[in-house]
Amino acid sequence: MRKIFVAGNWKMNNGIAVAEDFMKGFGALLENDDKLFRAVGTKQLQIAVFPPFLSLAKSLECKPDPLMIVGAQNVNDKESGAYTGEVSIPMLQELEVKYVLIGHSERRHIFGETNEFLNKKLISSVKAGMTPVYCVGETLEERENGTAFDVIKAQLVEGMKGVSVAADKFIIAYEPVWAIGTGKTATPADAEEICKFVRETIKELYGADFAENVLILYGGSVKPDNTADIMAQPDIDGVLVGGASLKYGSFIEICKAAI
Ligand code: 13P
Repeated sequence: MRKIFVAGNWKMNNGIAVAEDFMKGFGALLENDDKLFRAVGTKQLQIAVFPPFLSLAKSLECKPDPLMIVGAQNVNDKESGAYTGEVSIPMLQELEVKYVLIGHSERRHIFGETNEFLNKKLISSVKAGMTPVYCVGETLEERENGTAFDVIKAQLVEGMKGVSVAADKFIIAYEPVWAIGTGKTATPADAEEICKFVRETIKELYGADFAENVLILYGGSVKPDNTADIMAQPDIDGVLVGGASLKYGSFIEICKAAI
């Protein structure tokens, strides 16, 4: 039975003071909700947030539950060196950060990160024992011109080339670019169609056992009121939430709707 994974990607929001406020407020609500608290305690539900780098230390210090995950939004594949503005895996490990988003569509489309480049980050992260959340997804143009499946397959095949990892140390997130921050959610059936395709592709690459156990998340305009329908899909194990994860009140409602 696969676990449920609810993740909030804060993007370039929630600085140090807001991160502290979030963790305190979220913690108070979590402790008062027996069902949710139990789900976290038994690891049926994993809750993660991905703050900007500067808010990582404060988020870790103030997180309400030892089992709550605080991950990074990006990482460089090199250990150290002349890479101005970058953050390395050893630096994240110094903070005991174990999860990292890799290949978010904003990294791909705004910062020009290619499958080949992301492959290096995945290989370095996995070698270092980190758990990547590898993001894939098609643009509106790709969806409309009928190439969505090819694009996603290439993101998986090229991005994960030579990545040797156990299923419980790797997460995939399907985020259609056209549904991110637009208020347009893929219908649960559309999201399931692609997540199922992702699982089938992973089966071809890593075998049935791996495909059966790896977590696949959906992201793109997830809100408290559409979470349950998305989570009801058989190949969707969790959600990756942007805007609605910034405030602890709405994020906790998503966590509740996911279990
Ligand atoms: P929104 O939930 O704001 O659409 O963002 C989704 C996302 O990009 C999460 O990584």
